[in-house]
Amino acid sequence: MGDLKGITEKLDYLQSLGIELIWICPVYCSPFIDQGYDVSDYYHIDPVFGCNEDMYELIHESKKRGIYIVMDLVVNHCSDQHIWFQNAMKDPYGKYGKYFYIREEVNGNAPCNWRSYFGENAWSKLPGHDNLYYLHLFAKQQPDINWENPEVREELYKMIQWWFDKGISGFRIDAAAFIKKTMPFEILPADREDGFCTYEIPPTCNDGLHEYLQEMKKRTFEANDAFTVGEVVSFEEEDLEKYISDDGCMSSIFDFSLYMIGKQGEDFDGFYSHKQPTANEFRDALLRSSRLSFNVGFLSNFIENHDLPRAASHFIPEKDISEISKKMLAGLNLMQYGLPFLYQGQEIGMENLSFSSADEIVDIGSHMEYTLALEKGLCEEEALKKIQEYSRDNTRSPMQWDKTENAGFTKAAPWMRINPNYMKINVAEQEAREDSLLNFYKKLILLRKNPEYKETLVYGKETSFLEKEDNFVGFFRKDKNKKILVMANFQRKGKFFQLPEGEKKVLINNYSEPVNLETNVIQMRGYQLLILDIK
Ligand code: NOJ
Repeated sequence: MGDLKGITEKLDYLQSLGIELIWICPVYCSPFIDQGYDVSDYYHIDPVFGCNEDMYELIHESKKRGIYIVMDLVVNHCSDQHIWFQNAMKDPYGKYGKYFYIREEVNGNAPCNWRSYFGENAWSKLPGHDNLYYLHLFAKQQPDINWENPEVREELYKMIQWWFDKGISGFRIDAAAFIKKTMPFEILPADREDGFCTYEIPPTCNDGLHEYLQEMKKRTFEANDAFTVGEVVSFEEEDLEKYISDDGCMSSIFDFSLYMIGKQGEDFDGFYSHKQPTANEFRDALLRSSRLSFNVGFLSNFIENHDLPRAASHFIPEKDISEISKKMLAGLNLMQYGLPFLYQGQEIGMENLSFSSADEIVDIGSHMEYTLALEKGLCEEEALKKIQEYSRDNTRSPMQWDKTENAGFTKAAPWMRINPNYMKINVAEQEAREDSLLNFYKKLILLRKNPEYKETLVYGKETSFLEKEDNFVGFFRKDKNKKILVMANFQRKGKFFQLPEGEKKVLINNYSEPVNLETNVIQMRGYQLLILDIK
């Protein structure tokens, strides 16, 4: 399955890569309707992943190596198997009924017409009570927890402290901006023919959200000097400081801007309408985020996570996917202002899965997307192609360690199918090859930690370079001591670029052939990435 002992076993590998913190997706007890994001017991590790002692051992062994453990905090909702919900079903008007949003039907219907993120009605009938509904913004097995109730908030804070006492260093906060609902529940204009409207978090988060997040910080994170990173997909610019400034409610939030590319327009929430991102859009999103956050705090930068496709498959046109273009993406991910997060397998350039039929889809969200694409008129083949491009299964296939059976991930049946390209893309092969992507990631990470460059690469301001140039991403990272230039020729064809004045030293080049810096005009090859120290 992939378990906690498996992570402990690979700590030396992670340390050799240079990572300092591990965020682990939810490993609590769960029926796994949404791969663990439906927690049925916050205090216990699901037997599938091992037991609590395995977690304590992982924390201990990580600490020895200077690595922090960050768990996933899933408190917008829990599982319908959680004892709180089981009790709420037995007695909806009692104590536990108030732990959830349970409402009476209105004229024989649900209280309002919100659509859940997995495409269904966000209200389901409370089992055993024909006149009552409960709210679930995700799957119906994930009832939303009622944050309006101080008693339930206390329960959650108690649980958070309990994990701190076990030695974890912080949390990634799932669906952080959803915990406060817009009240009262209102019927919104339908956004599809089904009559529903996808519930959006309010554009400004003044309506109580930050009071809850601040309270949670004060009651739990602050005293434990914890690191917290929120999953906040969208926010108003002026609200960023409420999240990540020194007085903000979290240490950081993930920057989703690269993944908002291609999703504008009224149907942005359906795979069927997503568009392939372009290099210029990538550049604009990246520069915008650093401009937005520089004087405020740190956004957390990522190009992959468990909800998205593999970065190389997503950002690079299929015919151009290679170790060179993957190295270019790596450089941009790690040099940008912010906190870089890598997703397992990104460091060896794992790619999207391929799907031969809808039966191969595991993820609940992708099933919904497939159905939606068919409803929108795509034929089966086109709908499957969309799944192939965007499905969350793409990044969830097991880690590819070596060429042995099941990519060295397990000797049993893996929990999800292995990408058949593991014979080519795997850790063992890349560890043995000096110019591999894995070794390139190590070089980039070492550069960020190099005492000579660290200050500039972590705190230095980011300013654009040749921003009007098509298919090119360029930026300086500078402070009073150093000036570093990051240049990426984000296209297949080579191109000449004028360099800024000053003596230059190449710190990183994703091609093995040296570059000639004697003149101020440089020819960059397709997908070339250069990082230069400029005096
Ligand atoms: C965000 C998580 O990353 C995703 O995997 C999950 O489905 C939803 N939140 C609901 O918890």
